[in-house]
Amino acid sequence: MIIKSTEFIKSAVKPNQYPEGDLPEIAFAGRSNVGKSSLINVLVNRKNLVRTSSTPGRTQLINFFNVNGTFTLVDLPGYGFARVPLAVKKEWGPMMETYFAKRANLRGVVLILDVRRTPVAEDSQMLQWLRAYDIPALLVVTKCDKVSRNEQGKQADIIARTLGVLKSELCFFSAHTRNGTESVWKRIEALLDENGAS
Ligand code: GTP
Ligand code: MG
Repeated sequence: MIIKSTEFIKSAVKPNQYPEGDLPEIAFAGRSNVGKSSLINVLVNRKNLVRTSSTPGRTQLINFFNVNGTFTLVDLPGYGFARVPLAVKKEWGPMMETYFAKRANLRGVVLILDVRRTPVAEDSQMLQWLRAYDIPALLVVTKCDKVSRNEQGKQADIIARTLGVLKSELCFFSAHTRNGTESVWKRIEALLDENGAS
């Protein structure tokens, strides 16, 4: 993917706040601190297009970014963070499900998982929603720089088993080494192309 331009569009909670238009869209989901924003920044080759978690606040909103004027990347709010107030936690489910249900131009969701952790209930919930709404899921296992090759293989087994997917469906990535960037882009491009976009 050749990145010519990237631009923050807006933040939203409700459908009437989502950007208008029908550009194809790819969203990024995963537990808090898993590395969603870092993955997006590496993909678009920008250090700080998306703020990483040292600046909280925006992270509880749905953030839309335009790329090349031709498609949209969406940073979804992270989940599973203990310090988030209960009221915010309660809003997360409906906010996510509404987005998946209503966003007709959504072509796929990148579900990001930490190579060192066993997936949590919200990760499985996310996959269930995607299946229910017939939205393709791309599973990216990140922070692979933190483990050995051997450990990566073992964790991949655990992650695949916990989520009930094939190990071959997992895409390995590191925002630090940038390993896996090409293969993540290839899979995203396939999702964008599938319905005649590019
Ligand atoms: P929220 O927006 O709070 O939900 O977090 P996030 O999922 O966007 O995570 P973010 O990209 O902000 O990264 C969280 C922390 O993990 C930061 O300190 C990153 O530097 C670190 N991090 C992200 N990706 C990687 C990676 O591939 N390797 C390593 N070693 N650290 C990473
Ligand atoms: Mg983030």
